[in-house]
Amino acid sequence: MHKSILILGACGQIGTELTFALRELYGNDQVVASDIREGSESLMNSGPFELLDATNYAAIEDVVMYHEIEEVYLMAAMLSATAEKFPERAWNLNMNSLFNVLNLAKERKIEKVFWPSSIAVFGPNTPKDNTPQSTLMEPSTVYGISKQSGERWCSYYYHKFGVDVRSVRYPGLISWKTLPGGGTTDYAIEIYHEALNKGSYTCFLNEDAKLPMMFMDDAIRATIKLMDCNSDQLTVRSSYNLSAMSLSPADISASIKKRIPDFKISYDPDFRQTIAETWPRSIDDTKAKEDWGWEPQFNLENTTTEMLKNLPSQSF
Ligand code: SER
Repeated sequence: MHKSILILGACGQIGTELTFALRELYGNDQVVASDIREGSESLMNSGPFELLDATNYAAIEDVVMYHEIEEVYLMAAMLSATAEKFPERAWNLNMNSLFNVLNLAKERKIEKVFWPSSIAVFGPNTPKDNTPQSTLMEPSTVYGISKQSGERWCSYYYHKFGVDVRSVRYPGLISWKTLPGGGTTDYAIEIYHEALNKGSYTCFLNEDAKLPMMFMDDAIRATIKLMDCNSDQLTVRSSYNLSAMSLSPADISASIKKRIPDFKISYDPDFRQTIAETWPRSIDDTKAKEDWGWEPQFNLENTTTEMLKNLPSQSF
């Protein structure tokens, strides 16, 4: 199938793997990667790349016109922990980039948009277990506020202007190809790195801080599946709850210990623990299952197996 795709934020944790997966599916030349900085050698060498600031409308428009882009995946964002340090910059990046892409679609310069939301849209007053698709949402982080506002704008552009925008609320994502950047759930990747490199890890969340988590392969599959389905299958135009597993640092540690028996973990919670306490422990993703057939494939055990198998071959 012919499709021309632009990925904004292609060098980040999700963007990198999404770029590889879409290039595999649609052909290297059909998928233009872009970011404000260059990415890994393998990403840069696998297809077209544009240096692009996602907050610059005119620059994105130029690239869209030049490459005759039909679909845009907007993966550029400032994550939860960093956003607490730079609130205004986070708001400007997260919101302006979204407006740019939504407006390109509104003007029919592109046909379809993917924009990620997050479990951070929920807040301290949201039911924490099996959090429903529609529920009380009072996010208390800068990042969460930007994601919740973004969801409202997506829904607004769909209903008001017929913009075909699609979104999922990603849980914390565990991956080995690229390092995460500035999130509250980054511990779930660091722990595997340190288990292999040092045999021990000091975690910045408490041992029992359970959060919704997912292996990256599932997240990429979900994203592509959602973008591939017929528009009329979708009943949610804000963002779909998406779930795979619910994990605490103690759970991941126990799973690593099965394979590295001497692994040691200690806990020194910082401000990120306060963020984690406002997020759900588990997510009800029935709507995603019903509407577009979502089904996760990775649990903690096969995630740990993949992480410990693949990380040693990576250089960071
Ligand atoms: N994983 C992200 C973070 O921790 C949440 O979307 O910021």
